[in-house]
Amino acid sequence: MSNDITLVLGATGNTGRRVAARLRLRDTPVRAASRSSHPPFDWFHPAGWDQVLRGVTVAYVVPPPVPGPVHDLVARAEAAGVRRLVLLSGHGADDWGDSAFGLDMRSAEDAVRGSALEWTVLRASNFAQNFDGHPFRVPLAAGELALPAGAVPEPFIDLEDVADVAAAVLSEPGRHAGRVYELTGPRALTWAEAVELISRASGLPIVYRRISPAEYTATLVQEGWSEDEAQHLAEMFVLLERGAGAWTTDDVATVLGRAPRTFEDFVLRATAADAWRC
Ligand SMILES: NC(=O)c1ccc[n+]([C@@H]2O[C@H](COP(=O)([O-])OP(=O)(O)OC[C@H]3O[C@@H](n4cnc5c(N)ncnc54)[C@H](OP(=O)(O)O)[C@@H]3O)[C@@H](O)[C@H]2O)c1
Repeated sequence: MSNDITLVLGATGNTGRRVAARLRLRDTPVRAASRSSHPPFDWFHPAGWDQVLRGVTVAYVVPPPVPGPVHDLVARAEAAGVRRLVLLSGHGADDWGDSAFGLDMRSAEDAVRGSALEWTVLRASNFAQNFDGHPFRVPLAAGELALPAGAVPEPFIDLEDVADVAAAVLSEPGRHAGRVYELTGPRALTWAEAVELISRASGLPIVYRRISPAEYTATLVQEGWSEDEAQHLAEMFVLLERGAGAWTTDDVATVLGRAPRTFEDFVLRATAADAWRC
């Protein structure tokens, strides 16, 4: 077995599947892992971790919904001979205070940053693809997106850029050691502006409506979310409205040597794929 495997966790998810594809095109030996892979990786079944870590030199870590296991995984990775870790986190993680979001993100970051391994943290802003996937595609296709978000803009990042950056960092030992990259799109736009762009490009009559966090929580619960999950997402919007993460950075260009993709570019690709037609 090669002793130079790149492990990609969350490999069936938004970023993981894109990162794994890029590494395979570079002929990098990849172990794409999640609960459904062979061998499986489950954050809550540590007995299986050693098999997944065998022969791994560098790992892309998509953290679990609760933070504790990242500390255990990092210790196990050190013991298994892993040399580098690249962690996905959230834009402006320092600005999220003592919210569950802030505490969770920083706990995972602390686990990686406190390790003896070479590490890089990728703090991504909200993905543009949340609009053509979970959780916003369905309400948009129904003609209205209602969120507890007003005038504070968000620098949506394209998932393809997150994956390009992650694949570059995973492939370039040394260059990104000890760096925290804040990955944003080139400009921030309000959620209403984002919906207006989608409506204009697709030609579909889609509107944005601002609602209260309590109304949003109730809507999500009605749609089948658990009360906890619904409150968690609503809390994210309350924090975004306070300005957490509203700023843009040049970090995509720092890593890739080119500007990040625009939101308009995402909208054109998603429209071409008919993302918002029922
Ligand atoms: N959405 C955004 O706008 C945004 C922005 C910035 C940061 N983030 C962060 O991105 C992270 C999510 O990353 P993502 O969007 O790439 O992934 P994702 O699409 O949410 O998918 C989650 C991945 O984790 C795997 N998974 C789920 N439960 C697991 C478990 N118990 N053990 C092991 N693997 C498990 C899933 O695969 P299986 O089901 O096959 O196990 C899947 O591959 C979160 O930490 C989120 O905070 C999100």
